[in-house]
Amino acid sequence: MKKDRSLKFQLNKFNKNGFVIEKIFNKSILENFKEKLLKNLRKSAKKHNIYSIKNIKNLEEYFNLVSKTEHEILMDRETRTIKFKKSEAQLILNKRIRDLLSYYSDKEYYILRSSNKFSSRGKDFNNYAGFRIVEPNSDKVAGYHSDHYNLQNFKFTMWVPLIGFNNKYSLKLITGSHYYKHSKKQIVKNKFGSARLFNNLYLKKFSKAFRPNLKLGEVILFHPYLIHGNAKNLGKTVRVSLEIKIGTD
Ligand SMILES: [Fe+2]
Repeated sequence: MKKDRSLKFQLNKFNKNGFVIEKIFNKSILENFKEKLLKNLRKSAKKHNIYSIKNIKNLEEYFNLVSKTEHEILMDRETRTIKFKKSEAQLILNKRIRDLLSYYSDKEYYILRSSNKFSSRGKDFNNYAGFRIVEPNSDKVAGYHSDHYNLQNFKFTMWVPLIGFNNKYSLKLITGSHYYKHSKKQIVKNKFGSARLFNNLYLKKFSKAFRPNLKLGEVILFHPYLIHGNAKNLGKTVRVSLEIKIGTD
């Protein structure tokens, strides 16, 4: 009975705020994900003849080893993508998460990653996710945006911190902004990536952004229309996070 109540409680929060925080992972799984990223980085370093991180042992030391220019070169789409094992995918889309999402669709949910970053018509692949590595105080973070603007092929996002959990590092979310169907007219050009950012005047109509304090293993699951971003890394160390997209086919 207690479990049911708490699901209901979380579902209420999800509906009201547009996001919910859930504990999913333990330390060793997060370490596995970090190891996958390191593997990609070493591979990418080899491909681009970047010797500074050839023998990188842990992600915490990443920005001590690479220059900003090298970082740009290393972070291609291939490097920024990892594949989950079946058991990992099952853990991510566990019963609890599926129960929360079943409120929005009866269809089966999958972990999806679009093959083409710049087109919503790109083919989706199962069980792949992206990750980000952000230097402290870097301006190279996407400003406020929502991940979707219409109900076609929309996906929920699960944001998973691997390094940097508290509110100096975590994602900034505008509570309740998922009630609005944001118009493309409110979007300005983005210097740093493909996220379609909102103009400041539009953002004024919403409440101040909230930055949660997460614990190891906790994730933020948020609605496709929820405005988020502008989350500068204000911590002392690198921030590493995974971005998992969950949608129906
Ligand atoms: Fe986003």
